[in-house]
Amino acid sequence: MTANGMNHLLWLLPMAVTAQVAAPSPATPAVRIEALLRQMTLEEKAGQLSQFSAGDATGPEAHRHDYATMVAAGQIGSFLNVIDPAAIGAYQKIAVEDSRLHIPLLFGFDVIHGFRTIFPVNLGLAASWDVPLIEKTARLAALEASSQGLRWTFSPMVDVARDARWGRIAEGAGEDPYLGSLIAQAYVRGYQGQRLDDPSSVLACAKHFVAYGAAEAGREYNTTEVSDRTLRQVYLPPFEASAKSGVATFMAAFNALGGVPASANPFTLDKVLRKEWDFQGFVVSDWTSIQEIIAHGAARDESDAAAKAFLAGVDMDMGSGLYLAHLPHLVRAGTVPAARLDDAVRRVLRKKTELGLFEHPYAPEVSVPQALPEDSRRLARVAAEESFVLLKNAEFGGRPVLPLSARPGLRIGLVGPLADAAEDMLGPWGGRGRSEDVVTLRAALEVRAKRDHMRLLYAPGADVLRPDAKGFQGAVAVANRSDIVLVAVGEKGQWTGEGASRAYLDLSGKQEELIKLLHATGKPVVLLLFNGRPLTIRWAAEHLPAIVEAWFPGVEAGPALVNLIFGDVNPSGHLTTTFPRSVGQEPLYYNALSTGRPMSDEQSPNRFTSRYIDEANTPLYPFGHGLSYTTFAYASATVDAKAISAAALRSGATLTVTTEVANMGPLDGATVVQCYIRVTGTSVARPVRELKGFERVSLGGGASRRVQFRLGWNELAFWNIDMQRTVEPGELRIWVSSDSVSGLPVTVELTP
Ligand code: GLC
Repeated sequence: MTANGMNHLLWLLPMAVTAQVAAPSPATPAVRIEALLRQMTLEEKAGQLSQFSAGDATGPEAHRHDYATMVAAGQIGSFLNVIDPAAIGAYQKIAVEDSRLHIPLLFGFDVIHGFRTIFPVNLGLAASWDVPLIEKTARLAALEASSQGLRWTFSPMVDVARDARWGRIAEGAGEDPYLGSLIAQAYVRGYQGQRLDDPSSVLACAKHFVAYGAAEAGREYNTTEVSDRTLRQVYLPPFEASAKSGVATFMAAFNALGGVPASANPFTLDKVLRKEWDFQGFVVSDWTSIQEIIAHGAARDESDAAAKAFLAGVDMDMGSGLYLAHLPHLVRAGTVPAARLDDAVRRVLRKKTELGLFEHPYAPEVSVPQALPEDSRRLARVAAEESFVLLKNAEFGGRPVLPLSARPGLRIGLVGPLADAAEDMLGPWGGRGRSEDVVTLRAALEVRAKRDHMRLLYAPGADVLRPDAKGFQGAVAVANRSDIVLVAVGEKGQWTGEGASRAYLDLSGKQEELIKLLHATGKPVVLLLFNGRPLTIRWAAEHLPAIVEAWFPGVEAGPALVNLIFGDVNPSGHLTTTFPRSVGQEPLYYNALSTGRPMSDEQSPNRFTSRYIDEANTPLYPFGHGLSYTTFAYASATVDAKAISAAALRSGATLTVTTEVANMGPLDGATVVQCYIRVTGTSVARPVRELKGFERVSLGGGASRRVQFRLGWNELAFWNIDMQRTVEPGELRIWVSSDSVSGLPVTVELTP
């Protein structure tokens, strides 16, 4: 999607008067940057590396400053959370006209799953496994944000998350590094476009570097203990993929990694990011994470914290003011080499140059209707439709409950606190999304019921949080007068995202009691889940005939769900995060190691195996799971070689794995064909399965087609006992299946 391809997207802006910017010198950008560096004082250099939040705080409230004065004095290089175009223009005018060196400001914001057009929360977008679609959502978000003068988003969040208790699992792609890497690259391409100096492009930011999602016990900001091998195999790959795709910036994380704060970690920030990956962009800290090195106990005072973060490789200070306050004297004292300071400033000036900010510091003048354009809504609707995961669809009255067949007189009972909750549909990090832009499930059902002469009965039934039963009677009355009951429950939108770790994964308030009462009426009850993480919904899974995982679906929540419920759309989403039976199983993820005493038989468990005595090992719903209204059959996979050598793989040879997928029903549908491997007999234990390929396959009713995957060095290499990334001899099993637990493997011998 290109900028002019979206010319319908026109924004009405109270434009800052576009002042005459001094015509840039004809020198090349590099020459101009060096000339600026020669003119800059230490204080101005420290200013370029200082970012302040001059809008709604997205972290512990930092003290406020006289930002206009600071900008004029060259003490600020970037703002975050300034989102009013007029304010952006005003600050920019001061920087460009009043400051001594006229260096434009860079404005950043958390555009995480949309800017004004809010798409499904990222864990939902990931469940579409539709990489091109995700790129399109990022492209539209960049168009909308850049039109307001924002040229930097603190996205994509690429943290692998294996623990549903961690609230930020909602912001990423789930538990798999292979899928997470491809999705990370899609966001980067979408945000940054073809060229950074395209006015619709914004700098992307791979965050939070690194292993923030490994927070012990799922507790926010908690310490992380990750082996070098797990760091390399699981947490680093999406960041490396982001770097390879040219992501402009990285954000250093809050957590300590093996006791070393990620915002003062030379191993990750310098050895890996700079020396191994040759990353040329710049690194920003997370919100006051530089100051927090003191709280970690890894810095004596603010000066020490500033020195450690800077020397480790954090170029820009988000919100703490420590670089502005301490870098000049740290350079004068010889603690920070002057050349290192210039390197950091150079990286920031280079990105501002690449964005074209020196030539065009102000947002382009465009105008847009206040309502979301239909093109934008259509993209949001498709994204929501593809994000939904049909977890269960059993028979009731002799046929699968879903899709409903609309017919005059059908009485639909809609119950639940999230059936008409516009704000919650935006989920965490809702950008500049507005609840008035959201079409709720109730609103969309009213339209559909009217069109098809059906009756819609509604009762909230319960609160998402408050444990009161006042609404139960009304809800049961609605159910008793209905032919089908849809119950919309889950989490508050702000119960996920940052600062939202949970010790329990149950439905909050009295939502579960509500479901049980509705079930007791004997009517068919369809559970619609609105949430940003796996929840423990065991009772519902055992008793209700149909369950749809809807996540936080964004502005088109209602129309997308109605299309799915009535079969206008066939569900195609697949989980990218494991649903546990109980919170005690967390962290629970598919690509786990076997252990020396793997549980062999759930039915007759041996005491001396890796198990619980009071809970199963298996998940409620596994990674990769997702049903359709039709049925897909997989032929046994075949592979084009019985053996292959590591030497051949190193020289580029690949294995080709082939299967046939057939749509066995009359309905058109799409599914995600997944390719997993396991290698045994190697120098270290490897996961029982690892995703190494997938393809979204659309098939007409009754159609079938061949699906192939190529497995080469990149797919088969791993970090061995010597911490070398290589392919070792061993037994390679390959599955091609519809999730991470089904299918029969084919075997290939890996030889030296
Ligand atoms: C927050 C988050 C980070 C976000 C930043 C700016 O604390 O950790 O993801 O981009 O601050 O809002």
